[in-house]
Amino acid sequence: MDYASLKALYDYHGQAHVFEHFETLDPQQQTALLRQAAGIDLDELDQLVEIHVRQEAVAGIDFEKLEPAPYLPHFRNGGDAEQWQHARKTGEQALRDGRVGVFTVAGGQGTRLGYDAPKGTFPVTPVSHASLFEVFAAKLRCAARLYGKDLHWFIMTSEVNHDQTVRFFEQKNYLGLRADKVHFFRQGLMPAVDFNGKLILESPGSLAMSPDGHGGSLRALYRSGSTRIMRENGIDLLSYFQVDNPLVKCVDPYFIGFHILGNSEMSGKALPKAYPGEKVGHFCTYGGKTVVVEYSDLPAELQEARQPDGNLKFSGGSIAIHVINVDFVERLGSGSNPEASLPFHKAVKKIPYCAPDRSIVRPDKPNGVKFEMFVFDALPFARHPILIETLRSEDFSPVKNAEGVDSPESCRKDQLRMAASWLKDAGVNLKTDDSGLPETVIEIDPAFAMDRETFLSEWARLSPKPAIRDGLIISG
Ligand code: UD1
Repeated sequence: MDYASLKALYDYHGQAHVFEHFETLDPQQQTALLRQAAGIDLDELDQLVEIHVRQEAVAGIDFEKLEPAPYLPHFRNGGDAEQWQHARKTGEQALRDGRVGVFTVAGGQGTRLGYDAPKGTFPVTPVSHASLFEVFAAKLRCAARLYGKDLHWFIMTSEVNHDQTVRFFEQKNYLGLRADKVHFFRQGLMPAVDFNGKLILESPGSLAMSPDGHGGSLRALYRSGSTRIMRENGIDLLSYFQVDNPLVKCVDPYFIGFHILGNSEMSGKALPKAYPGEKVGHFCTYGGKTVVVEYSDLPAELQEARQPDGNLKFSGGSIAIHVINVDFVERLGSGSNPEASLPFHKAVKKIPYCAPDRSIVRPDKPNGVKFEMFVFDALPFARHPILIETLRSEDFSPVKNAEGVDSPESCRKDQLRMAASWLKDAGVNLKTDDSGLPETVIEIDPAFAMDRETFLSEWARLSPKPAIRDGLIISG
């Protein structure tokens, strides 16, 4: 679109100010602004402004009608062991058949962590200080050895961290994976608006844009051609997880098996919340559908509500691990069915802006709104969503904050506890405190064992067995 038509369009939508400095820009800057402006869906933006800025919409939930969603208990927690073994076999077969692709959302910025690089490059393990990406890659190498198939790994980045992420993989020789099996793509961007619904210029020639949330992954998977690559390679299932959690089972045969046996399109892993206010989503049922209600949207009295037996009523925490069908991603990501589209959520933020005198202002209080989609909002559109319980100690210890809960230190300790628990299970005499934390700082290379079951069989085969000492990395 040329300048005149775009300007007219922006005028019509009450956003003419976007071009207020246009005449002063050099030709390159003008082209960049025109390209940016042409990429914004102004009709969609008008709707979002109407709902989230003018009407101040709150999550439209009638909390009276919200119920906790049931989930299948883990076999170590009263679940049916035989059923779990059957699921595991089914999942293993899917892995052997090459049906499973791996998908990591890594587009967010580690703002809370205070880390100025892609979060996946953050060092996490207790001895080798391997980064999150290296931990996941090692687990994928383990899965490839176990199931005889190299897995395709899809990594969603964003404008802010894409180049650095790709460079990290290149410099580290794709972390021991085949380069043609690792696929990067950028998530989409959404424009930010002020409290009057006006687009924000971050400089005279560019608009303030931000990543469209991990829910944007569905359309980004489709638009980037990733779903086509999946189809070409016989992948019909995706194992989805967030970049911040080194404990995650990148592929979990039990979970994949339950998903397949349940004929589900999207499944989720749940675990009992550690405490009422834990910052996780809540698996609920609402209007006959499975939904996730984010911690920030569930009123405190419901977060704290108890059942007669004293357990939390809304205890099923969503830890953002899913199995998703590729055709479901295509259906939602292509926008072919307008009835099934993910809603946007608003986040009120401090957004730097360009003042009329062209100076850049960094506000000290929130001045605008960003829009994000959440991937769990796809659950209500999915056929037969299956929810299974997982064990926190073996699947969830995210690195989110610089200190305290969900920090590098709490995660380091959780990794040590998990290693100690696997070693004890294998019959090794190891001294731990009451929380299971060992005195010795050890690491189990995820390429050697990606989960407890693998560790027990690999350890049994290992000869001679290493003496347990500080700094030991068990790697076979
Ligand atoms: C998230 C979930 C919460 C869940 C918790 C588990 C949301 C809104 N909530 O909370 O339900 O219980 O994790 O740890 O997600 N990301 C992108 N692009 C974006 C935004 C985020 O790729 O535009 C990725 C991040 O890189 C990260 C993940 O999504 O891997 C989570 O994002 P974050 O904003 O940290 O979510 P939480 O508030 O921690």
